[in-house]
Amino acid sequence: MAEEVHFNIWDPEFRANPYPYYGPLLAGPPPIVTVGPMTFALVARYADVTAGLRDHEHLSSVQPPPPPEQVYEGRFKGSRNMLGSDPPQHSRLRRLVSRDFTPRRIRELEPRIREIAKELLDKVEAKGEFDVMADLANVLPVTVIAEMLGVPPELNPRFKHWSDTIIGGDNNVPGSPPSPKIVRVIDELGDYFTAEIEKRRANPGPDLVSALVAAHDEGEVMSEADLLSFVTLLLVAGNETTTNLIGNGMLALGSNPDQFDALKRNPAMLPRAIEEMLRYDGPVQSTVRFTTEAVQLGGTEIPAKAIALMIVAAANRDPAQFKDPEKFDVARDPNEHVAFGEGIHFCIGAPLARLEARIAFEAMLARFPRLRMKDPAMKPVYKGSYFLRGLESLPLAID
Ligand code: HEM
Repeated sequence: MAEEVHFNIWDPEFRANPYPYYGPLLAGPPPIVTVGPMTFALVARYADVTAGLRDHEHLSSVQPPPPPEQVYEGRFKGSRNMLGSDPPQHSRLRRLVSRDFTPRRIRELEPRIREIAKELLDKVEAKGEFDVMADLANVLPVTVIAEMLGVPPELNPRFKHWSDTIIGGDNNVPGSPPSPKIVRVIDELGDYFTAEIEKRRANPGPDLVSALVAAHDEGEVMSEADLLSFVTLLLVAGNETTTNLIGNGMLALGSNPDQFDALKRNPAMLPRAIEEMLRYDGPVQSTVRFTTEAVQLGGTEIPAKAIALMIVAAANRDPAQFKDPEKFDVARDPNEHVAFGEGIHFCIGAPLARLEARIAFEAMLARFPRLRMKDPAMKPVYKGSYFLRGLESLPLAID
């Protein structure tokens, strides 16, 4: 079994299309592989990924401390955000923002998100050319999350740069420290938000940063560094992921014209089509967990001090769970994919991501009824990260 496995996130061919490489992983128990001093479990089968993500007692989200020479000394030193914590800390941190991310609160954002999408497509129409990444997908989510955080629109390009640099580093072996370039960007972002936090403390507004500052000041549940880390998580997690849902989803539609036509004929299928985009080619390929003691999963003993890659994108192609998993089917039902994870860390931004994607596709289909790939033979070019999968560009024809 282990001999057949080829899993190299730095291999450009693997990154361009990891799905064929998941096949052998879906055929048996999770293999254990070693890279230098590190031990990895490659968890791919749907049953194993869901069981592993639910077992937060044995599979921790807390990254083990780095060796002393690699300890990071910047603004975020010692901070924890909810993604990287276990209960009870995780539950406390998550509670602080959960009321801002309920489906009802998120629905209130709908008119504003529509307005942003409309403005972006007005520009596309005026120029007569459309790259869905540059003109829509890269801009919409960052604009929305920046507004939620109360950041002025003129800072959006700087935000995007911070977010892209931080994300660009995630082909590091999980658990290894950030590169100096990333540390620099993290510190810049830290400086900006440290100043903002002080401003909102003096002058609270209706934004998320003010709400977090108030929660922090009342309850003392978060350190200053935690607060910064939290805001950064929202910025990064709410940005690139949704961008890539719009891009990867459009590529799936453009490469499957029969499915695209079915959706154009019946736009009411859109919510289901978006679930299929998430399953078929989701923005997050894999998340990670850490073991402190040996744990059994899917017939494998994962040793202590190992890193378990929970490959949600592989689980979403598992034939034991999905009929014809390689087929992109906009009418797929049921579709219990794990693109947003599972268990206590299930994506808190899922309602927002779904809403933004729905609005983006509705707006595009209504404005450009003949929307299609500009060059159906185009070989898609992906950005650098394996963990967050997304396109550099995707030119579309709108005539
Ligand atoms: C299509 C878009 C998105 C996808 C595919 C996605 C995927 C995921 C996944 C797989 C996890 C679980 C990670 C783990 O268990 O280790 C997660 C967690 C999280 N996501 Fe998303 N996400 C998306 C959009 C968003 C948005 C829009 C936001 C916020 C504005 C967001 C904020 C978060 C946060 C804060 C967590 C951590 C939750 C926790 O630890 O309890 N995500 N996301």
